[in-house]
Amino acid sequence: MPLLEVNKLSISFMQYTKGSRQEPVNVIEELDFAIHEGEIVALVGASGSGKSLLAHAIMGILPPNVVMSGSISYGGAPLDEARLRRYRGKEIAFVPQSVSYLNPLMRVGKQLRTREDGLEQHIERKSLFERFHLGKHVERLFPFQLSGGMARKVLVSTAALGRSRLIIADEPTPGMHPGDVEEALKQFKQLAEGGCAVLLITHDIEAAVRIADKVAVFYAGMSVELAPASDFAGNGERLRHPYSQALWRALPQNGFVPLPGSQPARSLGQQGCHFVDRCPSAGEQCGTMRPEPRSIRGGIVRCIHAT
Ligand SMILES: Nc1ncnc2c1ncn2[C@@H]1O[C@H](COP(=O)(O)OP(=O)(O)OP(=O)(O)O)[C@@H](O)[C@H]1O
Ligand code: SF4
Ligand SMILES: [Mg+2]
Repeated sequence: MPLLEVNKLSISFMQYTKGSRQEPVNVIEELDFAIHEGEIVALVGASGSGKSLLAHAIMGILPPNVVMSGSISYGGAPLDEARLRRYRGKEIAFVPQSVSYLNPLMRVGKQLRTREDGLEQHIERKSLFERFHLGKHVERLFPFQLSGGMARKVLVSTAALGRSRLIIADEPTPGMHPGDVEEALKQFKQLAEGGCAVLLITHDIEAAVRIADKVAVFYAGMSVELAPASDFAGNGERLRHPYSQALWRALPQNGFVPLPGSQPARSLGQQGCHFVDRCPSAGEQCGTMRPEPRSIRGGIVRCIHAT
């Protein structure tokens, strides 16, 4: 049984169109997603494709003007407000994309301490600080006194120090020194080896492929492919979706092949495949038929022509 399961999750925002007229704008559509204990699932995709919103939906911190449908379950039961309050920051840890989530009025050390703080936690904290090259004095600093990279290391430390069963890390490494990025990835790997489920949202596809078991690819609010990380290899020929292949081939080490066009803005009731305007394999039905998720070669894909 998955530790976390998201079924048919749709999220839309009400947006003003003409004058005082409001229309819902879909930002996540019918998203299915699951993660098991001990597993690292990386979430990659274009900017604005809905990755952070998925994380916020799981954590129950979406803004009030959203309309959400579908279900999120944790440990086999619905993740309702009462259970979220019990688990958030404890069993379920979140490394937010924005460092502004650190409490600006609290010294770093205090933010890293848990209620169960004892000798074991103190030793762990010290070792983590050493591995991240954070001096002892950092504990006495306020968040505004940290650089972007330092703040991220502190955020990763808060998640790593808890006794979490699920960690959702939203872009945890930008701004970090390459050595610290390696340390953060190693940390997530070790936590997963200890049974923790890790959802790693990242733009660093190369890092994702290196540490994740599976990679989910997002495009325009949809998970277009879920593939074993090992499928991201060679020329991307094992990948099932044209967008996953384009993302992989756009990396400098894989040919630097640009993908023309940009991700479309979405509105309710849009027909067909979201990738149709940029897809080199688009056929006749692609503009009118919405691809449903299909299991192919050990992965899941939303493309009517994938084989
Ligand atoms: N409060 C909001 N009101 C209206 N639209 C929003 C709001 N928050 C996010 N969006 C829209 O939802 C979409 C998904 O945003 P999200 O932050 O999840 O993207 P992302 O995939 O995390 O991007 P990035 O890789 O840049 O972090 C975007 O089109 C964004 O404009
Ligand atoms: S459904 Fe059609 S347009 Fe969409 S990814 Fe597949 S081939 Fe391309
Ligand atoms: Mg984001």
